[in-house]
Amino acid sequence: MYNFNQSISRIGSNCTKWDRYANRYHIEDVIPLWVADMDFTCLAEVKEAIIKRAEHQIYGYTDPSEELYAAIINWEKRQHGIEVEPDDIVLNTGVVYGFYTLIDMLVQKHEKVIVQNPVYPPFFNTPYSLNRDVVFNPLCYKNGHYYMNLEDFEQKLKEQPEIRMFIMCNPHNPTGQCHTLEEINSIMEICERYNVWVVSDEIHADIIMPNQKHISSYRCDERYWNRLILLGSPTKTFNLAGLKISYAIVKNHELQKEFARVAKANGLSSVNIFGIEALIAAYTYGDQWREECCSYIYENFLFLKQFIEENMPLVKFDIPEATYLAWLDFTAYNVPDDMAERLKYEGHVELQAGIGFGMAYSKYQRVNVACPRSTLEEGMKRVKKWLEMNQYL
Ligand SMILES: Cc1ncc(COP(=O)(O)O)c(C=O)c1O
Repeated sequence: MYNFNQSISRIGSNCTKWDRYANRYHIEDVIPLWVADMDFTCLAEVKEAIIKRAEHQIYGYTDPSEELYAAIINWEKRQHGIEVEPDDIVLNTGVVYGFYTLIDMLVQKHEKVIVQNPVYPPFFNTPYSLNRDVVFNPLCYKNGHYYMNLEDFEQKLKEQPEIRMFIMCNPHNPTGQCHTLEEINSIMEICERYNVWVVSDEIHADIIMPNQKHISSYRCDERYWNRLILLGSPTKTFNLAGLKISYAIVKNHELQKEFARVAKANGLSSVNIFGIEALIAAYTYGDQWREECCSYIYENFLFLKQFIEENMPLVKFDIPEATYLAWLDFTAYNVPDDMAERLKYEGHVELQAGIGFGMAYSKYQRVNVACPRSTLEEGMKRVKKWLEMNQYL
């Protein structure tokens, strides 16, 4: 049994999540429940693999090993039931790097990208930063579940033939739904008809709650594979984001070669050597850790649900099917649009402001529960106290 209750201080490690209060904001004692990064110590085999590599004392350019490709191939087969060949893979330093490069390669300046909001901000900020326009196809919410609005999606593709790429979040951040095979096939079929590339960001694919299932986009009908690029990574599941490693699965081999060529031309001639070791160790020895981690996260969601029901019952929250992210709707308490900012300074707890996921979500907050329960409890007590202090509760 792994111990996810263990709390190790990250303060003083230049940690993005914990150290910015002292370094940037000059506030003390803030509980961070924002960025999607876990506070759990990593799998022991990952640490050992990194130490072993470090002991060699030479860290020059390093080619990806057959073992690395085998680890990815076996993981994708074991966890998601898809067949991957070494020639399908392009190594990247991150998923956002992946979709940045793909937008630049496949979407002309006058063309557009379509995304499903609310969504992880780089889905629209990255195309904007590349001067590509973005079209929004909002998810719809019914009976505690978010769905794709396929009619609206198709309508937008019909009306705006400049839409050239769909970036799918599967599972979805921040709403946490696993798309069904039916939804994936339907959206692929629409994209086929309108000649739209599909980039499926599957970074949260392994953080799945009990009785739920992630459906890899490559489970779709084979006739759509030529337009599909899957972006995968061990960095969310195993908390390795600082090691900068991820991969794309591209079954269109012409595109795979071009993607690999462009990545190399952009300076990615090799990936991080410690990232390579970490990925191999995580994907080889991490099955049990992943399962137990998902169970712990689920227990945290149950705790959060109960806390909300007992302390702020008008907040809407459905336990997600995937991810370690809770999407809370505070609308009923008439909270201010700058709630997250004020919580940080006045309440000493930081949540991820919903407005970052789309303008319509200013009353939402995203809570990261991938931390020891005691941290989550303390953070939520501070949220409650702040709501009371300001008479929203
Ligand atoms: C959906 C999604 N994609 C990508 C990323 C970031 O991936 P990377 O650090 O590999 O660029 C995140 C991080 O939170 C995410 O939630």
